[in-house]
Amino acid sequence: MKTLPELFISNRAWAERMTRHDPEFFERLSRQQAPEYLWIGCSDSRVPANEIVGLMPGEMFVHRNVANVVVQTDLNCLSVLQFAIEVLRVRHVIVCGHYGCGGINTALDKGPHGLIDNWLRHVQDVHQKYRLDLDKLDAQHRLDRLCELNALEQARNVARTTVVQDAWARKQPLEIHSWIYGINDGLLRDLGLVLANSAESDAVTRDSVSQILAQR
Ligand code: CO
Repeated sequence: MKTLPELFISNRAWAERMTRHDPEFFERLSRQQAPEYLWIGCSDSRVPANEIVGLMPGEMFVHRNVANVVVQTDLNCLSVLQFAIEVLRVRHVIVCGHYGCGGINTALDKGPHGLIDNWLRHVQDVHQKYRLDLDKLDAQHRLDRLCELNALEQARNVARTTVVQDAWARKQPLEIHSWIYGINDGLLRDLGLVLANSAESDAVTRDSVSQILAQR
């Protein structure tokens, strides 16, 4: 007996729809994947990576965790990054945060919340870094700005990894982007950060941070 039959029923219907539309779709995908993008986003169920950019299976490599955090010691995230860049040779890494992020909200709230506090310490580091500017804002704007700044800082962390530094050193074309998604309108916003080499990364990040903090 199958458990959760409703999910198997809808899976079967989906696979049939895909095959009706393109009879060789799954056979072609089973031979290889050649995505152009790596998406690093939040685990939040309201931010389904492929769906919000209208991409099909095979078109985007995806890594998600609570509050889209990129840490230099996270072997899970680094392994995804290495495979995507060195084997799949993606052209773009997109770090996408979202407004109303529960992880960011929890990081702002003192807690304690148990195990998750260790993970959210990385978001608190971002808060600490911009504390003087963020503390001038009301609670809603503070949360919005921190969601944006966290997406920027995590994109900057992607650029600092040895995987990305090595790719740039061998002149592999690779851009790191930082976006934010609105769960209340379904729209993506580009935070204006595109990192494409080591030399300019700090200056480009500083410019984007200033733009974010200059918003009302
Ligand atoms: Co979130």
